[in-house]
Amino acid sequence: MAKKREKVVLAYSGGLDTSVILKWLQEEKDLDVITYSSQLGEVENKNLKKKALSCGAIKAYEENVEKEFAEDYVLPALKAGAIYEGKYLLATALGRPLIAKRMIDIARKEKAAYISHGCTGKGNDQLRFEYTAAALAPELKVIAPLREWDLHSREEEIDYAKKLGVKVPVTKKNPYSIDKNLWGIAIECGILEDPWCSPPEDVYVMTKNPLNAPNRVEKVTIDIKDGVPVAVNGKKMNLVDLINKLNKIGGKNGVGRVDLIENRTVGIKSREIYELPAGVILYTAMQEMERLVLDKETSRFKKTVSDKYSTLIYEGRWFSDLKIYLDSFIESTMKYMTGTVMIGLYKGNVSVMKRRSPYSLYSKEYATYTSEDKFSQDAAGGYIEIESLPLKLQGRRKKRLK
Ligand code: ARG
Repeated sequence: MAKKREKVVLAYSGGLDTSVILKWLQEEKDLDVITYSSQLGEVENKNLKKKALSCGAIKAYEENVEKEFAEDYVLPALKAGAIYEGKYLLATALGRPLIAKRMIDIARKEKAAYISHGCTGKGNDQLRFEYTAAALAPELKVIAPLREWDLHSREEEIDYAKKLGVKVPVTKKNPYSIDKNLWGIAIECGILEDPWCSPPEDVYVMTKNPLNAPNRVEKVTIDIKDGVPVAVNGKKMNLVDLINKLNKIGGKNGVGRVDLIENRTVGIKSREIYELPAGVILYTAMQEMERLVLDKETSRFKKTVSDKYSTLIYEGRWFSDLKIYLDSFIESTMKYMTGTVMIGLYKGNVSVMKRRSPYSLYSKEYATYTSEDKFSQDAAGGYIEIESLPLKLQGRRKKRLK
């Protein structure tokens, strides 16, 4: 009796790489392939299930996980103020741990010994898949065909596919590599690989050219409750709808374009174009609410936490203990994060117009320059005398220096 083949769960997008991998795993590794395809936002129905089965997969999963993505991945990052290298709101980086986690769930259910992905050996995504697997399912083995096979170009892959009778996906060849989800889009390759080439208009998908955006400021109010954005312009909505709505409003006003030379984990500097309209608006609103409700020391400390948190996400350590410990700190800073911020959008720019919170630490009676002033100005003299003592001692010493 023939030995039963072992199983592998493959992250399958239906593109050239993962279509060839689907065959390669059967041919070269002698495995039964179960495909996993997910949508982390609105996309046209690609019917990947049918496609995978017709390429020899023994089973194919396809699901929309945008709700889980928004609530369990985007929201914690937003609360943390996570922004990689000051510019990237981590859209792709937040999606990968969720995809990997779902593949692991399926591998367990299907008793598969392997998971496999179509990431190259040069990028960050391989780390995000494999660190997630290490943390959640250390017993699972990972196969990364792009790191080990002998196919070194698109042409070689197409030849290999044809030889084995794999239908080559008939998408028209996009000059860019694109990754899109609810939180944003990442675009690289093609002429963008030249950092001295400013992005042609055709790279942008979600945002209007700011020059052609409306000639007036569009005001948007964001209501925040316990650190969760809950309404736009007074209208309550769930997080997925709220992000979609802000992507539309922001996109229309040319908001959210980012051009970034970033440090990949593997040491390469790469150039990526991002569009993150909702992200930029929400990040701005949350930061502003923090200015109002967080005390000075917490606010300064939180910057360090945000920085570490964003690196953990970028480098694929979503399920690390440290990330989880930081979540508790971040969640405790959300206690007073309730109120409303009004944002103005104008030709690609985002500005804060107003803010209010029942838990604001802003106190007009101390800040005012009118006769209502409660601040004891006379006490400031004593405060300065004591605080300036170290500087006085340093000043005197300088005089002694020959
Ligand atoms: N540089 C981004 C990251 O590491 C996006 C990676 C995917 N980019 C792409 N254009 N396919 O998170």
